[in-house]
Amino acid sequence: MKVLMLNGSLKANGNTNAILEAVGKQLNQEGIDYEIFQMGNDAVRDCAGCGQCSDKGCVYDDDKVNEFVGKLKEADGLIVGTPVYYAHPSGRIMSFLDRVFCCGRKYMEHKPGAAVAVARRAGTTASVDALNKYFGIAQMPIVSSTYWDVVHGRVPGEAEQDGEGMQTMRNLARNMAWLLKCIEAGKAAGIELPQAETDVKTNFIR
Ligand SMILES: Cc1cc2nc3c(=O)[nH]c(=O)nc-3n(C[C@H](O)[C@H](O)[C@H](O)COP(=O)(O)O)c2cc1C
Repeated sequence: MKVLMLNGSLKANGNTNAILEAVGKQLNQEGIDYEIFQMGNDAVRDCAGCGQCSDKGCVYDDDKVNEFVGKLKEADGLIVGTPVYYAHPSGRIMSFLDRVFCCGRKYMEHKPGAAVAVARRAGTTASVDALNKYFGIAQMPIVSSTYWDVVHGRVPGEAEQDGEGMQTMRNLARNMAWLLKCIEAGKAAGIELPQAETDVKTNFIR
């Protein structure tokens, strides 16, 4: 089994990567593989709301969104990590995930997800809340830890010094691994995925 992770920072070796690596190392100890996906250094487009999402992915094929969606198909779980920018997730991770979920939501359904954030000081829980919103509309079980999934650090190397934060990351990994194994055991025992009702779109109340 494999967990796909998304780094919402431009810094490939910054604090966000460090906290994702901490989760990943513990996942490995539990027998689960992981991959950290970097969005690249180029600009990430916003969702245009064009409604042209298809099995080929997003119409904009000049960044890494479609590559990520391809990896989602094969993944068993998802963890998204962000630095806190002005008390919210990085703009690029929100733009990226808006488009991932528009065209790749079906590859998320019923897979466990978690969001982690790192900040110098404040805005962590608001950032995690914003990222968890994606999971909440995709029928994804949200995995939790022994504290909210946040770590403190400013410059690269500081996150590792937040002992409580890093312990929270490791406990998150243990819970993610446990849930993945429960889901696999459930499938082997013949437990079927729930079938959602056909969409009713009440776009406004008459
Ligand atoms: C544009 C910008 C805005 C930031 N806003 C906040 C903030 O609101 N609260 C905070 O505690 N840290 C803030 N920070 C600090 C980062 O969250 C922190 O340095 C983080 O560890 C960076 O992670 P990275 O190394 O993965 O990029 C901000 C940093 C930048 C560049």
